[in-house]
Amino acid sequence: MYQVIARKYRPQSFKDVVNQEHVKTTLENAIAQKRIAHGYIFSGQRGTGKTTVARILARCLNCIQGPTSTPCGECASCKEITSGGTVDVIEIDAASNRGINEMRELRENVRYQPARDRYKVFIIDEAHQITSEAFNALLKTIEEPPEWVVFVLCTTEAHKIPATIASRCQHFSFRSVDFEDLVARMAWICTQEGIEADAEALAVLAAAGEGSVRDSLSALDQAIACCGSKLDAAEVRALLGAFSLESLEKVTQALVESDSRRMLEVVDELERNGHNLQHFSRELARYFRNLLVIRISGAASRLVAASAQQREKLAEIAAGFSEEDLTRYLQLSLDLFRDLQFSLQPRFHLEIGLVRLVQAGRLLPIEQALAQLGGVRPATEPRPAQPAAAPAASSAPPQRTGPSPFDLDRAKKATSRPPEPQSSGANALAPEPASAPMTAGDPRERLHGYLHEKGLTHLADAVENARITVTGSDLQVVSAKSYALYFRDRGFEEAVRECFGRPLRVRFEIGDAAPASTAAPASAPPAVTEDQATSRALSHPEVQRFREVFPAGEIRKVRNLKEP
Ligand SMILES: Nc1ncnc2c1ncn2[C@@H]1O[C@H](COP(=O)(O)OP(=O)(O)O)[C@@H](O)[C@H]1O
Ligand SMILES: [Mg+2]
Ligand SMILES: [Zn+2]
Repeated sequence: MYQVIARKYRPQSFKDVVNQEHVKTTLENAIAQKRIAHGYIFSGQRGTGKTTVARILARCLNCIQGPTSTPCGECASCKEITSGGTVDVIEIDAASNRGINEMRELRENVRYQPARDRYKVFIIDEAHQITSEAFNALLKTIEEPPEWVVFVLCTTEAHKIPATIASRCQHFSFRSVDFEDLVARMAWICTQEGIEADAEALAVLAAAGEGSVRDSLSALDQAIACCGSKLDAAEVRALLGAFSLESLEKVTQALVESDSRRMLEVVDELERNGHNLQHFSRELARYFRNLLVIRISGAASRLVAASAQQREKLAEIAAGFSEEDLTRYLQLSLDLFRDLQFSLQPRFHLEIGLVRLVQAGRLLPIEQALAQLGGVRPATEPRPAQPAAAPAASSAPPQRTGPSPFDLDRAKKATSRPPEPQSSGANALAPEPASAPMTAGDPRERLHGYLHEKGLTHLADAVENARITVTGSDLQVVSAKSYALYFRDRGFEEAVRECFGRPLRVRFEIGDAAPASTAAPASAPPAVTEDQATSRALSHPEVQRFREVFPAGEIRKVRNLKEP
């Protein structure tokens, strides 16, 4: 009869158990010192060895040569445990025996001495499923157990074990098994089974288990059933719906080049080759997760289930992105994975998702934007509105190798922008308004020059977009609402006094600032319906400064967060 690999290769002694060193050592010591606890909790991910270790413990305790940490494996007791339960080693699946009656029965059973062996060992699987009354019924027994009783409560959800029970047990948490150990274990099993498997195939299987030995071994079973005695990475991948690093790399390559078209090609290729798009999105999320982890913790990180070679490769790719980028990509790919689960149009969803990644890559990290708010822009420089000259040194993300997709995109957008009608935007591209030169005696020009010199560029810009006249001791300002706050600012009044050498009363008025086609920079106020809240928001200095930093930006909507 064919026996599944996971069961056939269930470790029979501590030395065969992979990882879980802390559990093994502590139990071995306890046995050697004859300090056996009456209650244990084994918690951890499924398939990491909880039941296995519980059975080994039972063997250690009941072996005819024991208690010993190296049971003989020959005596009746050892043999019976290997093939399942014995009279004195009782395995209970709490998923189906969770009620009070079962626990009362168990309590009864506990009272009798072992039939043959030294200890009565109760291995309770899925212990978190036991109802709270049933736990209560058990409490007294666990509190004052007969000397021959050992309970092992196995659970994937330790927090669901009541504190009253947990406090009377020794708790061991089982770790998910390290990638390299898992690969080694599977390589050994393959040799035993006469299966030839290349390292990459094993790596795919190990990664598929996500730290669970049982899941990886099930995948191995499946692979053998499908591919026979020679396992090949590509076949195994196809079987498990996994994707090679190369195919995922196409996505990051398209991100580096900020190329949405390439993304669409990726989707097309997947469809044509009959790949499951949902699987792809899952693998993509895992890929970004690994890139992020490696970007943070380095190529040696234990947290990434991949071979050393693959981790090197991942590190190389990750170096091309910032931590923020990768975080954003991971978030978006998780959203994409979620969306695809319910999607009736997986292809469209995947296309949107991947294009969104490209767009997200064009965002400027907020820290950088804020740094620019600090007035990095040289005071003498004209507004950075010219298109092709876009990559201003200050806006290149520091960690990125090569040009920033943000800059590239900005340049691209600017050059591909269709020529705008003469009346509104044409001269926005010119550094200085050509048609309405400021005359020498013009107070606006004087003020503008002065403000620039002082590095007060935001005020200079406001002035540039205003009509300014001086009559007597008044300085009349006419400008768009959005600049109101600047002109009402005390800083402006002071600047005026210094510029003209005397105090002038600033009289501000909302109106059409540009009799000629002066000014309107690239960041000219967009067409937003200007109710009161909107104009208040737009004239807020913070918002103004953001718009200086993001000259190509556009305010689409102003929303009052206090309103639902
Ligand atoms: N740490 C481990 N070392 C070696 N094999 C393991 C380990 N953990 C699990 N296995 C394999 O997975 C199978 C299931 O393990 P089991 O102990 O039942 O997991 P669980 O933690 O879910 O109780 C075992 O039969 C064994 O083949
Ligand atoms: Mg188990
Ligand atoms: Zn024995």
